[in-house]
Amino acid sequence: MCGIFAYLNYLSPKSRAEIIELLIRGLERLEYRGYDSAGIGIDAVDSGLTLVKQTGKVKCLRDKIEAQQDSLDFGRELDIHAGIAHTRWATHGVPSDINSHPQRSDEANEFIVVHNGIITNYKDVKQFLIQKGFKFESDTDTEIIAKLIKHLRDLHPTYSFRELVEQVIQQLEGAFALAFKSKYFPGELVVTRRGSPLLVGIKTKEKLASDHIPVLYSKDGCEFGGRSLTSRERDCPEKVDLQDHRSHVYELPHGLARTESTAEFLPLGDDREVEYFFASDASAIIEHTNRVLYLLDDDVASVDSEGILKIHRLKRSLEDSHAREITTLKMEIQQIMKGNFSSFMQKEIFEQPESVVNTMRGRINFDNETVVLGGIKEHLSEIRRCRRLLLIACGTSYHSTIATRQLLEELTELPVMVDLASDFLDRNTPIFRDDVCFFVSQSGETADTLLALRYCKQRGALIVGITNTVGSSICRESHCGVHINAGPEIGVASTKAYTSQMISLVMFALMMSEDRISSQPRRSEIIQGLRVLPDQIKEVLSLDSKIQEISRSVFEKKSLLVLGRGYNYATCLEGALKIKEITYMHSEGILAGELKHGPLALVDEGMPIIMICTRDNVFVKCMNALQQVTAREGRPILICNKGDEEPQKYASKVLEVPKTVDCLQGLLTVIPLQLLSYHVAVLKGCNVDCPRNLAKSVTVE
Ligand code: F6R
Repeated sequence: MCGIFAYLNYLSPKSRAEIIELLIRGLERLEYRGYDSAGIGIDAVDSGLTLVKQTGKVKCLRDKIEAQQDSLDFGRELDIHAGIAHTRWATHGVPSDINSHPQRSDEANEFIVVHNGIITNYKDVKQFLIQKGFKFESDTDTEIIAKLIKHLRDLHPTYSFRELVEQVIQQLEGAFALAFKSKYFPGELVVTRRGSPLLVGIKTKEKLASDHIPVLYSKDGCEFGGRSLTSRERDCPEKVDLQDHRSHVYELPHGLARTESTAEFLPLGDDREVEYFFASDASAIIEHTNRVLYLLDDDVASVDSEGILKIHRLKRSLEDSHAREITTLKMEIQQIMKGNFSSFMQKEIFEQPESVVNTMRGRINFDNETVVLGGIKEHLSEIRRCRRLLLIACGTSYHSTIATRQLLEELTELPVMVDLASDFLDRNTPIFRDDVCFFVSQSGETADTLLALRYCKQRGALIVGITNTVGSSICRESHCGVHINAGPEIGVASTKAYTSQMISLVMFALMMSEDRISSQPRRSEIIQGLRVLPDQIKEVLSLDSKIQEISRSVFEKKSLLVLGRGYNYATCLEGALKIKEITYMHSEGILAGELKHGPLALVDEGMPIIMICTRDNVFVKCMNALQQVTAREGRPILICNKGDEEPQKYASKVLEVPKTVDCLQGLLTVIPLQLLSYHVAVLKGCNVDCPRNLAKSVTVE
């Protein structure tokens, strides 16, 4: 997740200092979306465009710009100016000045672009552009966009800025929100989106002529003649003649109909003065104007040299409303950053249907059931030959390793050890050159995990990092790895990172077993389980009000036990950790098989117990534990599969979650516990996002 901001003033004079300040303020508002580097692109003092980019928080960019105020000619007034800005949360390429946005087409900065999202076919496009003679300077997927638009402009110098952008997005796969600026089109901006959010704020002195902006269609049913690579060609590029196909893909046919509708929308009265703000969310716009319109996927919004905003789409679709409404925002900034949620933790819990998709995006092909983790694939044969897999982490990240250990053992047929980083170090655990050691960490900076990594690296093991933070210490010091792409996690209690870590490890297990015929049915059921996972997560999230109700019955208790076994044991540990850390209530995750070895003594009619009992190979054993609890007057709250009546007979309250493949069930059973901990914390008046004594990133041993 990154933040995009763009600003255009038309006949509304502003000094360069004011314009730059507007761009930086916009980024500061969006910083919660990503904060590893930032940049702006503005008109140069003489001609062309200037980029200022800086690794680190927006504050570092501000300092860099302030140091350059003279050369940036802060005092000069501009009647019309278009600027774009970006705060980054790295997905491709470490945080660095060169990888920061805006990305550019060439050294002359003919086109620059800022991007939020992931371009999944960037490697194909990059290869094509390299063959066309383009030289790449960054490791980002975004750079291909800047270069592709230049390539198209070189081919079609008469195209308008907006037409060029329309051509570009035809070739992109994945998710994006984009804002473009070009030295050929001064005072113009073009933005577009597909899968990532983008909205436009409009500020005028006079009342707008209308509250609706009509959508223009570039050419109904327009045939572009080019075609995208088929999924088979993309997945096995070595098997196809890429040069041949790519020239079809990107060289646009001559005679492309470019007649534009003559309809035009002038959102202004007689006074032509207008300011436009484009941003990933309203938090960056609300301080300037509350009049906004939300773009839909594949809308291309452009402000032309007359200061007129137009919204184009390539094709008319039946569902399209043919107009975008300008609405009036009535929200506070804090509220916008958190959406309709009261805390970041709650927001992040509810983001999981999207964050899991981002983890899988471009890695799983659900149709031909293949999984490719680009960051690991080169080392796959070495990993397959290893002595054992070690998964080392702390806290929630450690729980993700427990959650996936059984599947890793099954699909890799290797011994798999999971360890808490601190304990692993305390034991001076023996490590061998043919070990493969995974270090799982949301922040990528946890000191214990990092020290364990260095310990294993010194002993010659292969180091695999699984983190949510590109460019973090764990990323940099690993030989290879997976970026989980969950987007920044701000709440101290980890939620969406956990589910994305689990999915990353599941994808690794799937990739390891792709050659084994006997594993195909199992792989297939898991991949199809992952396909429907986002919808199933949504279904679990719809239990929220029921869970809030249940939380009222437990929030005044002293303690809460969470029981389960098999694949759900990790959910017990993770659920209990969530409850402990944000509600300060004692909570324990207990392996149901251990109940009779001690914990059963805790059970009576007053002890709140949550029992997870889903239909898998330990179901019968879980039922035994459930009966042991009820025999001691325990009145468990049950998490079970939807429609499963048998265990419900023993429960005081029931939360039904959809059934999925056994090894994925924990992704669904953990969500009610995330929600329960949140609601209990709210009822107890605790600070949900910043629990006492805890920090988001634990950089001390
Ligand atoms: C719990 C939590 C912590 C972290 C642990 C490791 O909600 O967030 O237990 O999981 O401190 O942090 P990372 O994953 O950043 O290494």
